[in-house]
Amino acid sequence: MKKITIAIDGFSSCGKSTMAKDLAKSINYIYIDSGAMYRAVTLYAIRQGLLTDKNEINEQALLQRMPQIKVNFRLDPTTGLPQTYLNGENVERDIRGMEVSSKVSLIAALDFVRAALVEMQQAMGKEKGIVMDGRDIGTVVFPDAELKIFVTARPEVRAKRRYDELQAKGDKTPYEEILKNVQERDYIDQNRTVSPLRKATDALLLDNSEMTIAEQKAWLKEQFERIANE
Ligand code: DC
Repeated sequence: MKKITIAIDGFSSCGKSTMAKDLAKSINYIYIDSGAMYRAVTLYAIRQGLLTDKNEINEQALLQRMPQIKVNFRLDPTTGLPQTYLNGENVERDIRGMEVSSKVSLIAALDFVRAALVEMQQAMGKEKGIVMDGRDIGTVVFPDAELKIFVTARPEVRAKRRYDELQAKGDKTPYEEILKNVQERDYIDQNRTVSPLRKATDALLLDNSEMTIAEQKAWLKEQFERIANE
């Protein structure tokens, strides 16, 4: 069985990272959440005062400081789950909070941030044996990946999944608001000028609107085995 590169791209809230993480674990590959890297740079910019409450970005200063930003991942020894580190500090919790979530798309739209992170991502995947998820993995980061998947689901289905998750955490955000947010993020992801979200021509399309997690998992494993055994 050969060692390959697996690129998983797609819309937000369609279970990409769950399936990517799960596949990586089951085949003993490294998993990289590229979105976490954009989130870590956003956290850095907020903490350094380079991204204000009014969403003003000091691009010049951020550009100069890019070489000082180191993002990497380590597995939590108890849970086995990957944790994101920013310059040696575990920032996994902070990067998932509302403040970073609401500002990350601004940082992800900066070409010099993308160039720096793409370079880091390519270095992480040099040895293959990697599953990376994001928006531009199959198109920009690893255009030669042996297996590319583009995941989607109907906006209403994604909004309902997000709604159920939030309800379970005690968050009462109404479904309509979540649906609007999903649709807005889809629009931003697909229409930004740098590396917009689009399916690579050679990516397999996975619409998981009507699939269970177990069905998805089995489908993905099958694709992996087909390609890795070629
Ligand atoms: O997948 P996520 O929600 O954690 O991604 C966070 C943000 O980063 C989101 O605005 C999309 C963006 N992103 C990107 O532009 N390119 C990637 N490869 C991954 C994420």
